[in-house]
Amino acid sequence: APLTGVTAVQDHLQELQKIAEANGGNRAAGQPGYKASLDYVKAQLDAAGFATTIQEFDAIGGTTYNLLAETPGGDANSVVMFGAHLDSVSRGAGINDNGTGSAAILQAALDYAGSGATPKNKLRFAFWGAEEQGLVGSSHYVQSLSDAERGQIVAYLNFDMVGSPNAGYFTYDGDDSDGEGAGPGPEGSAQIEKLLNDALAASGVQTEGTDFDGRSDYGPFIEVGIPAGGTFTGAEGTKTPEQAQKWGGQAGEAYDSCYHQSCDTVDNVDQQALDRNFQAISTAVKTYAEQFPQP
Ligand code: PHE
Ligand code: ZN
Ligand code: ZN
Ligand code: ZN
Repeated sequence: APLTGVTAVQDHLQELQKIAEANGGNRAAGQPGYKASLDYVKAQLDAAGFATTIQEFDAIGGTTYNLLAETPGGDANSVVMFGAHLDSVSRGAGINDNGTGSAAILQAALDYAGSGATPKNKLRFAFWGAEEQGLVGSSHYVQSLSDAERGQIVAYLNFDMVGSPNAGYFTYDGDDSDGEGAGPGPEGSAQIEKLLNDALAASGVQTEGTDFDGRSDYGPFIEVGIPAGGTFTGAEGTKTPEQAQKWGGQAGEAYDSCYHQSCDTVDNVDQQALDRNFQAISTAVKTYAEQFPQP
């Protein structure tokens, strides 16, 4: 029987690691390891019955691609999107950044399809290219939509780094609860934040907000007013003593000391953080398949 759940997520990460090793050590946009990653993800989604399309665009160093996969069922006028960038930096395999987000949304999609449920909303999963060159793939996608197509997207959930080895538990601050920084997301973002906070609380985790500061692929979506959210376990930032008390791990050290380095391999993933985030993503998929916004 095929693997399911977080065991399958871990298997996808092993496969992405092998793809990097077979292709010069990375999965960067424009490099063969990126296309091999895309082919791997697409084959699984095709086999599970998703309607997949590859969107080609130009980035630094040549042509690269986004992969879009949607449920055949569900209301095309009410689309909930889940996205993760599939490219790595050229220095390494990019397993935490962002094999984890990619593998987690891939498996949440496969498990949802395996449940046999028909969604009320259409679910669309996006695997972005060239995020590391400046959100090129997600920007290209949003710009390529007509006004009507943009209007059909009711929410966008982003997952970029969800297994950091010294993990924090952050959700994008849709209600701007800290009242500072980048400010709240578009209306509707607050309820995505709440759903993800509640889902992580069910795993015993108390989250903190992280601002929509434009550092990942939600940027082009919030720019056009689409409600957004997502989770993040931290990059080069330093864990505080308070956070170490709350979440475990090492105070005074980076959430991911291998961020954008060659040591971002399968060994650079906290399995518990990955599992907790995967469960939250799965909850969001099942919940928003039925209804968004919620009453
Ligand atoms: N987008 C950053 C990268 O891929 C990581 C990041 C994600 C930073 C979310 C901040 C918030 O390198
Ligand atoms: Zn990165
Ligand atoms: Zn990233
Ligand atoms: Zn804020």
